[in-house]
Amino acid sequence: MTAAVPTVSDADAAVILARCEELARHSSLTDGIERTYLSAEHAAVNYRVAGWMAAAGLTTWQDAAGNQCARLSGRTRGLPALMLGSHLDTVRAAGRYDGILGVLVAITVAGRIAASGRPLPFALEIAAFGDEEGTRFGTTLLGSRAVAGTWLESWWDLRDASGTSLREAFAAFGLDPAKVGDAARAPQELVGYLEAHIEQGPVLEEENRALGVVTGIAGARRFLLTVTGSAGHSGTPWPRRRDALAGAAECITTIERIARAEGLTATVGHLRVFPDAVNVIPGKVEFSLDLRAPDDADRDRGWTLIEAALTDICATRALHLDSNQVHEAAAVACSPRLRAAIAAGIRSTEGGAEAPAEPAPRELPSIAGHDAMAIAAITDVGMLFVRCAGGISHHPDESVTSADVALAVDALEAAVRALAADYPAR
Ligand code: GLV
Ligand code: MN
Ligand code: MN
Repeated sequence: MTAAVPTVSDADAAVILARCEELARHSSLTDGIERTYLSAEHAAVNYRVAGWMAAAGLTTWQDAAGNQCARLSGRTRGLPALMLGSHLDTVRAAGRYDGILGVLVAITVAGRIAASGRPLPFALEIAAFGDEEGTRFGTTLLGSRAVAGTWLESWWDLRDASGTSLREAFAAFGLDPAKVGDAARAPQELVGYLEAHIEQGPVLEEENRALGVVTGIAGARRFLLTVTGSAGHSGTPWPRRRDALAGAAECITTIERIARAEGLTATVGHLRVFPDAVNVIPGKVEFSLDLRAPDDADRDRGWTLIEAALTDICATRALHLDSNQVHEAAAVACSPRLRAAIAAGIRSTEGGAEAPAEPAPRELPSIAGHDAMAIAAITDVGMLFVRCAGGISHHPDESVTSADVALAVDALEAAVRALAADYPAR
């Protein structure tokens, strides 16, 4: 038996996976991956990624919000651009591919187009966004919202866990808060936005497919909830206890019950107990809620039910509930034009004339949030999903295969070419 000869796409995929490994080493943790907005690790990966962008033949710059950007001119200068992008920041204890894979696939696609001698009828840009996850400042999509021009003045006073404000972090990164508006792009500068991303769910793997077309992205709201009771000696008799943690525990299981009944996705992933001592009744508990649904009205109705139920629980236990919304992103539909281009891109990877007819590319929604949600404010968006092992994400075990990455590069390149073939028809 002879071994299969590696293709150009296999070689490109090997480079992309090696780069994912390299970027994973830029972490604030010694025993895992965490790379937050405007950190030293963020600066280091921007520098490294800018080098790869330049080597692919692109002009590079870091924008006024710390996003690492690049551009390949089209047939003539000054044309509107098709933007390809994703993010370089991570959650705490992250995997290697969430966001990062999309940036690196985009660079490879742009490099192929630059080298092809077949320029596009539009420019091609890459945006490697600095904040999609919201890990450092609690609110999310900061990088892509700067590009969308939807930055909020109220964000400047957000503080990270060490008390540094977003304004201070900008200055420490060498950015001028007064100039954040310079990162904003106008709709007429853009042809559309395409993002390749790992699925972060099990559908493609279960159906034995490498790639999928995203139909839309679920809307999300995030809250910081605080339950306040009264701290006291652990020997305090039952009638006198106002235990904030026992109340928060009931709140959390109630959130799960309501979300399941209403068909919503709800996650409580952060909890802080005060004073956090073994023989002291917890006097205060702070916890997060991340609530999502493909339809914003369903999500908002779910929050109304949850807030009412939590208020009742706290009243019954003589506790006080404070709820503070820290993030809201509306559900976004991917554009039919870009969905069709991505579907054409996937079909082009499915073999030549002799290949058995494949079923139409799988279309699926995204419950996970993406930079595309923010960019939808200024241009059409489309997304290509890549199978990830076990649907596991936001975890060190996140994993993709080299073969799937090779297909993703080919499909994204073909999607760009499909858009070019139709341009400027819309
Ligand atoms: C980002 O990964 C999110 O969906 O929270
Ligand atoms: Mn993520
Ligand atoms: Mn992501």
